[in-house]
Amino acid sequence: MLKVLKTFFNGMGTGKRIGRATTVFLLFFVPLFIFAVTQSQFSQANLKIGQKAPEDIRAPFALEDTDAYESQVEESLANMEAVYRISPTVQITTKAKVSGYLDLVRDIKLRNNLTVSSRIDELETVSPLDLSSDVHGIAIESTFSSLNTVEAISEDILTQMLAQGIKEDELGYRLMEIDGIVSSLNLQEGEQLLISSILMGAMEPNEFVDTIATERQMELIRESIRPVVIEQNELIVEKGETISSEQMRIIRLAELGEEGSRSWTRYIGIWIQLMLPLLAMILYIKYFSPEILNGRLIYLMFTLFMITFLLGKAMETVSPYLIPSAFNSIIATLLVGPGLAIISNLVLVYMLYFLWSIPGELAIIMIVGNSAGIILLLHQNQRHRVLLNGIYMGAISFIFYLGYYFLGDITTRNILINGGAIIIGGLVSGVVSLGTLPLWESVFKVLTPLKLMELTDPNQPLLRRLFAEAPGTYHHSLIVGSLSEAAASSIGANPLLAKAGAYYHDIGKLKRPSYFKENQFGIENPHDQMEPIQSTEIIISHWEDGMKLGKETKLPREIMDIIDQHHGNTLMSYFYHKASKDGETLPEDKFRYGGQKPKSKEATIVMLADSVEAAVRSIRNMDETAIELMVGRIIKGKIEDGQLDHSPITTKEINTVKNTFISVLKGIYHERIEYPEKS
Ligand SMILES: [Fe+2]
Ligand SMILES: [Fe+2]
Repeated sequence: MLKVLKTFFNGMGTGKRIGRATTVFLLFFVPLFIFAVTQSQFSQANLKIGQKAPEDIRAPFALEDTDAYESQVEESLANMEAVYRISPTVQITTKAKVSGYLDLVRDIKLRNNLTVSSRIDELETVSPLDLSSDVHGIAIESTFSSLNTVEAISEDILTQMLAQGIKEDELGYRLMEIDGIVSSLNLQEGEQLLISSILMGAMEPNEFVDTIATERQMELIRESIRPVVIEQNELIVEKGETISSEQMRIIRLAELGEEGSRSWTRYIGIWIQLMLPLLAMILYIKYFSPEILNGRLIYLMFTLFMITFLLGKAMETVSPYLIPSAFNSIIATLLVGPGLAIISNLVLVYMLYFLWSIPGELAIIMIVGNSAGIILLLHQNQRHRVLLNGIYMGAISFIFYLGYYFLGDITTRNILINGGAIIIGGLVSGVVSLGTLPLWESVFKVLTPLKLMELTDPNQPLLRRLFAEAPGTYHHSLIVGSLSEAAASSIGANPLLAKAGAYYHDIGKLKRPSYFKENQFGIENPHDQMEPIQSTEIIISHWEDGMKLGKETKLPREIMDIIDQHHGNTLMSYFYHKASKDGETLPEDKFRYGGQKPKSKEATIVMLADSVEAAVRSIRNMDETAIELMVGRIIKGKIEDGQLDHSPITTKEINTVKNTFISVLKGIYHERIEYPEKS
């Protein structure tokens, strides 16, 4: 990239151009970069819960939502069953209680010296099981064989029930199962009661939470949940949607993220994505339109681009389809040229897409519609066409949008709302372009073909005055105009400028028309009664008067230059020699025009055409050779007098101009040449 920039700047030539290219690049790049960096924040800074989102809010970069992750983990853990484990020791201790109790019963039964009630009392005192006196009584009165049965069955049931595991909170209802089991067995009533009571007294929960296994399980669950990531550009809140507290949390998260290490990589991303399109535009300028770097056009292009870009932002809040992007294309085509207008439109649409997030299909529509409009604008020379062109651009874009509709990509409602907005956007572009075109022309001092066309319109006040007050000069100016237009066109100069310059070159003659030969129809030549020096002053003053009048009527600078330079500092040789005859040899400078020598090809052409026209008109015996000789002589005279010393015109071009003059003049004086006797 550095190499490209280096070749670019080297190719620019002068230091001034390098400075200008750098300035322009910074003018484009810096504001766009700032927009890109701040755009995700400034819109979010004032957002509140419950407010309607003023635009689509998207994640400025990929961010990890740790809160959402934690709440997912918590939810999963809350639903998770703890891991239980059966403790083998409970079975041993409960069995020991049962057999211990029955052993006590047997012992007490074997003691002969006791009454039944004191046996029961004794048993109650030492029993490991908390049973009622009635149960103790039944136990004491049972036979040994019955006690053996009770012990065996109790242990069986105990083993079975504990094998299934009994949790603490299950103990209550598991105990209720016991009666059912016992009553289903074929036992005596006393035995049944005794078994039930012993089991209920001895039974304990044996299944407990395994903390280590449970923690491992929790760890596995935590690992199985994926981090919650919001992708870059992912929609957080849709435009118009009411912002919920959850959405606000993510918006805040995105802002907090700015401070992290991600932000500088994001800047690199923005930098690359802005840099390359702008670089492409600059390279285009270097290779195809380097001349625009010399003047104000580059600033015009930048200003126009930025205004449209900001208009885009203003409109986008209503509907992106309303953005008058065609405005940039129309003005750029008319003032800068179609090639650069197309490139500028491409970059503008890209920036609208990249920075203001307009829909992708709209970006394509803008490229197609505006490019078509730029081509339609070529060779347009009437001002009202600008407005029409905006409408055409809207219409072409709308038709293109219809394509999406027929493809089934958009709804009928969208085609009505967005399609309508596209047409309005085109119309607004046309109106704004038409309304601001004179402003662009005057602020940036650009002489557009449109303006030149207007200047050559015969209804222009100055031309109407010439026609009415100095008809000879008017006629002369028209012929000089035709000669200049053809000559400029033959050497690739600006024919419209040459023609317009020719139309106005002699407006200074309006002050005293009758002092100029071409306006003296049937009147006496006032110079006959005047001193040569007075005549000279009057004639030379048409140059200064022209400059004054041009300034008063605000003629463009390029036209003023042609008025200024059309005589250079030519000597009024007729009056000079007339004066010299009368007296001594006079200093020449009083008989010379004080204008500048022509500095442009167009001014050079007008100067030559002016002299050639006057000279050829005065030929008495008009024929082709006479025209050729006269044209050659006049041009040679101007060169020898040094009038073309400051002109960029080449010798080869002068030759082409000469041949063009000759062929145009032959056409004009066709009849006089064919039938010399008629003249
Ligand atoms: Fe003149
Ligand atoms: Fe003239």
